[in-house]
Amino acid sequence: MVHEVATIPGDGIGPEVIDAVQPVFDDVSERFEFDLELVRYDWGSERYLESGSMMPDDGLDELAGYDAIVLGAIGHPDVPDHVTLNNLLLPIRKGFDQAICKRPAILFDGVESPLEGYDGGDIDFVVYRENTEGEYADMGGQEHPGHGHEVAIQSAVFTRTGTERIVRAAFEAATEREGRVTSITKSNAQAHSMVFWDQIVEDVSAEYPDVTVERLLVDAASMDFIRRPEAFDVVVASNLFGDILTDIGAIITGSMGLAPSANINVSGEYPSMFEPVHGSAPDIVGDGVANPLATILSAAMLFDHLDETEAGDAVWSAVTDQLADSDAPRTPDLGGSATTAQVVADLRTRL
Ligand code: NAD
Ligand code: IPM
Ligand code: MN
Repeated sequence: MVHEVATIPGDGIGPEVIDAVQPVFDDVSERFEFDLELVRYDWGSERYLESGSMMPDDGLDELAGYDAIVLGAIGHPDVPDHVTLNNLLLPIRKGFDQAICKRPAILFDGVESPLEGYDGGDIDFVVYRENTEGEYADMGGQEHPGHGHEVAIQSAVFTRTGTERIVRAAFEAATEREGRVTSITKSNAQAHSMVFWDQIVEDVSAEYPDVTVERLLVDAASMDFIRRPEAFDVVVASNLFGDILTDIGAIITGSMGLAPSANINVSGEYPSMFEPVHGSAPDIVGDGVANPLATILSAAMLFDHLDETEAGDAVWSAVTDQLADSDAPRTPDLGGSATTAQVVADLRTRL
């Protein structure tokens, strides 16, 4: 079986991490006897600074033929974020209809949470984030620029198709887990979109009588992610709320450097994309100390997606094994002093 995977290392720590984990891909494909063809695309902000575009005009056509995509991170201090993200990362998620963003938040054994009294295994939930519309819809504009009455409008878009897809995916996931869904909204203030969302949760929940549903407003949910993270099983949220909540999910389970993510095209018509939750981390770029584990766990999710489940399980286990070992190297975000390369080298011995 040959899997063709495009890699887009991107900016900042993205290339450092993608380069460092490349040998893990090689080890895994060799051990589990499949062919993995990784094709690298040096698209991103350096390209933008040289040529004025983040990727070629036919970039999506180029990527469309792959089985999946692995992305490092995008974002550069010299280029405005709305330019970089709206011309590379977000067009891929949207253009390939990667409607389901799955983001596990797990406190692994051996990892310290900033929350007192939580040990490995105490936090284990997954966020299903709507990934193609909502507050990230490209609807709006600016008018009267430079005048005193200038105005900016950015409208959120919630379709029944998009909302139902993410809500149903969350309920499906709950049937495989502990049977609990928490739906996050702001229905008290946003009486159109979020009331519509609530109605769809109501409709879909009727199909899943064994799944219990909890509804939380996003402000209270942000508090409860910190006050009672152990209570969550599957969390479903809009694009923006899911974005914000998954950074909280990452830090309460130890580090941004441990949080993986899958952007799934459900129909399989287009490639899905696997990437860490974190960004390009300009504050540590070039230091060689970025934690590669978020990207490696994202790779484990990629292998599952490619139906190489043994490979996915092996990578996931190697990471949990390493984290549980107090003698293993860890990067500074986890309180250690190891480099990215040392963490990868140790991980390879566990595969
Ligand atoms: P960030 O996730 O890059 O960094 C936040 C903090 O977490 C920083 O202190 C950073 O050092 C730390 N951190 C992140 N990843 C780490 C890792 N692997 N190992 C150790 N520490 C890590 O968020 P930010 O600072 O808000 O954003 C920086 C840039 O990245 C911005 O341009 C932003 O738009 C972009 N961004 C891109 C993505 C993406 O490409 N998917 C995601 C988030 C942010
Ligand atoms: C993420 C990131 C992106 C998002 C940004 C960089 C556009 O924060 O993947 O969490 O908001 O989706
Ligand atoms: Mn984010």
